[in-house]
Amino acid sequence: MKKRRVESIRWHDGRLLLLDQRDLPTAENWVEMPGIEAIHGAISDLLIRGAPAIGIAAAYGCVLAAAHRVADTSAWHGDLDRLIEARPTAVNLRWAIERMRATVADGSTPGAALADLERAACKIHSDDLAANQEMARAGASYLAPGSRVLTHCNTGSLATAGVGTALGVIVRAWHEGRLKSVHACETRPWLQGLRLTAWELAREQVPCNMLVESAAASLLQAREIDWVITGADRIAANGDVANKIGTLMLAVLARHFGARMMVVAPRSTVDPDTADGRQIQIEHRPADEIWSSAGIAGGLPGIGAFNPVFDVTPARLIDLIVTEGGVLRPPYEQAISGLFGAL
Ligand code: MRU
Repeated sequence: MKKRRVESIRWHDGRLLLLDQRDLPTAENWVEMPGIEAIHGAISDLLIRGAPAIGIAAAYGCVLAAAHRVADTSAWHGDLDRLIEARPTAVNLRWAIERMRATVADGSTPGAALADLERAACKIHSDDLAANQEMARAGASYLAPGSRVLTHCNTGSLATAGVGTALGVIVRAWHEGRLKSVHACETRPWLQGLRLTAWELAREQVPCNMLVESAAASLLQAREIDWVITGADRIAANGDVANKIGTLMLAVLARHFGARMMVVAPRSTVDPDTADGRQIQIEHRPADEIWSSAGIAGGLPGIGAFNPVFDVTPARLIDLIVTEGGVLRPPYEQAISGLFGAL
């Protein structure tokens, strides 16, 4: 019997539960978030991760913060400002928090404000679920029968409210009989691919081959891949895409070896206020994340680390950007302003 689709966020009766992604695939532990401080910790420690998922968790965090602050709106705004800082690259975090801020009408009573906030957070959650479905449908339709795809990081149900972005396209395309093969990078150093994508694909009964990122050049050189398909953490107004470190390498390889590059992301990941990729702040994480992936706690004396966890792929290396509002093609500046103009 097919298992239930994976979820990472549950909101019920004013309580927020998150699936601890640090423990997967070994254990499925749900953790209750008592308030916004806990959510800040969960986002910065990667208990919850993936751009849309952290936006949704933060939206519920705004509700919990409001419930605790009752009538102190300036303290509430301070809590929200700090939450925005938890992870700087994924724009969905700021987008969701700003949307929650804009929900509270001037002069509304604390009770009414709380009800409005809960409704707004649930809508951010359900809109993402619907967007996932539309992106999966649209993206899969571009994959000719027999396509061979390569993906990176984890962009599935764990990272979103629904079937995912890039992984949603892949799972759907597999079940529609369009795919000959699926490859996924392990995604160093945190191993989102090996621990999370492999787990999701196994549950969806989609066969997949894992590879270390450094094997990607050989795979593409052997002409074994037609499409590289990834998600995004922020898409600038000119179509430059910030995504998990290693995406740029795959995009360069794809262009060099004649494969195509598809980026799948909801409108909430597109940031018309960021002109191009040079303005995107790239998150760097502690050296220990690299050492602990090899089981060497604390590292070795005198050895530092270069650990940016995102990179920026220039728009010119991207063939398609699939959103729930339409499939964008170059020139992206016009396509992206059309996407927002159409709202
Ligand atoms: O550091 P992470 O695991 O939060 O990074 C996630 C990614 O880079 C994903 O590709 C991106 O958030 C899109 S997820 C639908």
